[in-house]
Amino acid sequence: MSKDLHIHWYPGHIAKAERQLKEKLNLVDVVIEVRDARIPLSSSYTNIKKLLGEKPRLLLLNKADLVDKDLLKSWVKYLKETTSCPVIVTDAKGAKDLALVVKSAVDLAEPKIQALMAKGLLRRPARAMVVGMPNVGKSSVINKLTKSSKTKIGAKAGVTRQQQWVRINPKLELLDTPGIIPTKQDDQLQAVKLAFVSSVSENAYSPEPVAQALLDLLSNNPQYLAHVQEYYKVEELTLDSIAKSRNWVLKADSLDTERTAKYVLKDFRDGRLGKFILDEMPLVEDNETSAD
Ligand code: G4P
Repeated sequence: MSKDLHIHWYPGHIAKAERQLKEKLNLVDVVIEVRDARIPLSSSYTNIKKLLGEKPRLLLLNKADLVDKDLLKSWVKYLKETTSCPVIVTDAKGAKDLALVVKSAVDLAEPKIQALMAKGLLRRPARAMVVGMPNVGKSSVINKLTKSSKTKIGAKAGVTRQQQWVRINPKLELLDTPGIIPTKQDDQLQAVKLAFVSSVSENAYSPEPVAQALLDLLSNNPQYLAHVQEYYKVEELTLDSIAKSRNWVLKADSLDTERTAKYVLKDFRDGRLGKFILDEMPLVEDNETSAD
């Protein structure tokens, strides 16, 4: 495999995933989009509205336990302003339930339910689905939302048999499988960030350049740099210096940079290096195009 810093996409997979996502979208009143709080912009498409259509959308910044809380607050404000969507911070691995997510989804769908009632139909529960790129925590969010209610209410007309709805409460039903937003970013830096958080398959890149790109990015922020220097007990954030400090050598005294790269990525992913947000918040005048 090439050692270039390049993420490989599979256009056929992307087209298929987009098609499947659009089919599911037709079934719901409201979309719950999960993003990775460590990359609040890179874990979504730049033209996400085009992909998801005009459905009301609730944004979750998940894996909030892995990022700095104060910094995340400013991202919530920024995303609320630029997307006009409600934004909720979640930790789908933590103990807290996601009651606020349920309430917000119900509120977002209410105009549609009211419109149906105005046409003479009986009130029905709102229908929602969870969407997001791979590994952002979609299944964990669904599990958490459905934990207190295991009422499977089965297939509906026009829905394939595998797609089950779960009644969360009398006002909300949720598709029990998520919609997958295929990982694709035109910008290579954003693509590499998706590799940092395991949103792209390990087959799509080489670990060494990706881990070094992570170290370079962290080195640009004095606070992040200090955390990582302290963690690895190195001055310079390079795979070589970390391999040396850990004494990870191969035969003939060459450094085992592949092993080091895999460790660096794992340490970051597990939150051992620190609580970082790796996207830059765009300047205010760029907001409209950048967040959504
Ligand atoms: P997906 O459906 O979007 O692909 O993601 P999924 O829920 O499978 O979650 C992917 C990984 O992220 C899982 O870890 C899951 O536990 C973890 N995860 C989900 N939400 C959070 C969160 O809010 N905080 C943290 N820290 N992790 C979260 P895994 O390593 O695949 O499995 P495991 O750790 O559960 O064993």
